[in-house]
Amino acid sequence: MKKIVIANWKMNPQSLRDAEDIFKNVKKQSLKLKKVKTVICPPYVYIERLRKLSEKNNTIFLGAQDCFHKEFGAWTGKISPKMLRNIGADFVILGHSELKNLGETQNDINIKVKLALKNKLSPVICIGEEVRDNEGKYFSVIEEQLLSILKGVGSQFSEKLIIVYEPVWSVGKGAKKIISSEELVQISIFIKKLLVDKYGIEKSKKISILYGGSVNHVNAEDLIQKGCVDGFLIGRDSLVYKNFNSILSIVENKN
Ligand code: PGA
Repeated sequence: MKKIVIANWKMNPQSLRDAEDIFKNVKKQSLKLKKVKTVICPPYVYIERLRKLSEKNNTIFLGAQDCFHKEFGAWTGKISPKMLRNIGADFVILGHSELKNLGETQNDINIKVKLALKNKLSPVICIGEEVRDNEGKYFSVIEEQLLSILKGVGSQFSEKLIIVYEPVWSVGKGAKKIISSEELVQISIFIKKLLVDKYGIEKSKKISILYGGSVNHVNAEDLIQKGCVDGFLIGRDSLVYKNFNSILSIVENKN
């Protein structure tokens, strides 16, 4: 199975020209990779244009950063999964902590996952605790999130599912700490075990488990070599194409 590196550009950059510039430079690098799928998740308004620039090759893909939990209708300002599919997106990030802060619930995320799959999008599902306690309660937080978000999602979709462990304390500019590879490996194995219990060994092998939260071109090597993950979801460092490209080659060259 190929590794996956996903760029979450959030509400950046401010012009289509800058978006094209980053995209073209990442595309050049992605074309050299054999073991990594590159996924760019720009703001909605750039997806269609960047999809055209990708020339439908099989190394660089487009994704959205969210979708709405309804299929169509009178929902001012919202974007449906089908619209995303129709403009060429293959992936959609769901359950990001920045959206949970705005009121998104686990139930909303569960519906979005099912609608994304119905529309042939791969859901990139973010889970992760807000704080780390000393008693290890965060394991049950992760378990509860994962199982409620995957409620009613059948094993026939295993190849499309991507789970991102993204502890809230490590995301974005306000990150309190950077995770160590020793801490990461415990969680990736825990998530794998939950997926095996739910979907069985063979099906769960097809589900990618990624890490996100302050990944950069300096710490990526250690996290990919020792963290037992299939790739990364990257915010800040994905906007600096040289840094993002160096993360891509680190993942490509994983032993
Ligand atoms: P960060 O963001 O890499 O800037 O911490 C990751 C994310 O929010 O997905």
